[in-house]
Amino acid sequence: MKTQSDHYLSNSIPVPVTAAESSQQLSVQVESLKNELRRLQSLAALGELTSTATHEFNNILMTILNYARLGIRNKDEASRDKALTKILEASERAAKITQTILAQARNRSDSMTPTDLGSIIQDAMFLLEREMRKYRVSVEMDIHPDTPSAMANGNQIQRVLLNLLINARQAMPDGGTILVRLRPAHEKEFVELVVRDSGEGIPREKLPRIFDAFYSTKSGPDESGKGGTGLGLAACKEIVDAHRGRIRVESTIGRGTAFVLKIPRATDQSAAVDVD
Ligand SMILES: Nc1ncnc2c1ncn2[C@@H]1O[C@H](COP(=O)(O)OP(=O)(O)O)[C@@H](O)[C@H]1O
Ligand SMILES: [Mg+2]
Repeated sequence: MKTQSDHYLSNSIPVPVTAAESSQQLSVQVESLKNELRRLQSLAALGELTSTATHEFNNILMTILNYARLGIRNKDEASRDKALTKILEASERAAKITQTILAQARNRSDSMTPTDLGSIIQDAMFLLEREMRKYRVSVEMDIHPDTPSAMANGNQIQRVLLNLLINARQAMPDGGTILVRLRPAHEKEFVELVVRDSGEGIPREKLPRIFDAFYSTKSGPDESGKGGTGLGLAACKEIVDAHRGRIRVESTIGRGTAFVLKIPRATDQSAAVDVD
């Protein structure tokens, strides 16, 4: 009588395949693994974003609670006005954070449109402002006003920026400085985005591996739930490649690291939308 395992075995006897067939099977498998990796990368990014939002919300809630108590305790008009103003500001901040997260979660399209990277930088900084303060990291922004729009997917570039900024912050456990610079690149078809930190740097022999998926020197996520997957820079590279851009890294041990990105400019044609 045929047992369950016989049945299983008879099903798994390899059928001879030609070299062409097996190479075709392999490329199908590689494609499906790549898709799986992309899904993992975007889940990891969403996880980090959710973690940022949860910390921010907790903080905002504390502000709202404290000012609500203050307003109830102090009956005079000036104190109540102050309390309500603080509560309003905190709520507006919460609403803006929710909008940013929802936009990331909803908009999965790969479409590229003329995009002002300056405002993407502002949004990313808005999300990370408190976290940077907490880790004693000061952020300097240098956004050249004559930088043209890039042909880009705003959500994806924001993911790149958040990854680079969080890596930079994690490379400076005792605090430091991050410079974010946006300007027209020397090559006239690109805009240049630089994220530079004053952190620990990356040893030369490790540099070639940092863009590999799952390569990480961190023991796991930090207390704010970020890093340790080794998926951040792999996602950055993939996104920049999809933009037909470039990403380059310069690093000096003990001095810091800079990631230099070149993203194609939106051409005049691509910027001229909906005019007749
Ligand atoms: N700004 C940086 N300074 C120093 N090392 C960095 C920096 N950015 C990335 N790295 C190194 O590259 C590795 C891979 O980064 P990433 O793909 O974002 O994964 P993860 O942050 O999850 O470790 C990090 O573990 C770290 O060793
Ligand atoms: Mg990372």
